[in-house]
Amino acid sequence: MRFERVQQILTDGLAAWASSKGRDPDLSGHGTHFAWNSKADLLAAVGKNRRLIQPELIGTANAGQANLIIDLRVGFAGNRMPQGGPYIPDPQIDEIEQWIKDGCPD
Ligand code: HEM
Repeated sequence: MRFERVQQILTDGLAAWASSKGRDPDLSGHGTHFAWNSKADLLAAVGKNRRLIQPELIGTANAGQANLIIDLRVGFAGNRMPQGGPYIPDPQIDEIEQWIKDGCPD
């Protein structure tokens, strides 16, 4: 799987959120380095002081501990993202986890 697929899953997830809420999400509260316009952006991204993909987990069996995966699957303190749902379908979250396990290929 390629980065473009990860990007598409996140973009589709936000589009579903926007269509359900009737407005665009305001992601600015996550912080100033919260973006996935490129793979470099995503690998550097931080949301609420949590690195979305901790570098030490890339290419390891522990990819499921990445903050991005925890956040999309269950959330921190129950605050699953995108906040309030609709949530990204579990099989797509599994795809992102596998991509991190595979070492985040281009
Ligand atoms: C470490 C990861 C993340 C944390 C800790 C986090 C935390 C939060 C918190 C606390 C809020 C409440 C609003 C605020 O305080 O700004 C929020 C809102 C939101 N988050 Fe996240 N978030 C994370 C990642 C993500 C990701 C990856 C997405 C997209 C797939 C996402 C989508 C949203 C959306 C759509 C909202 C609502 C924005 C609005 O009302 O306009 N978050 N997030």
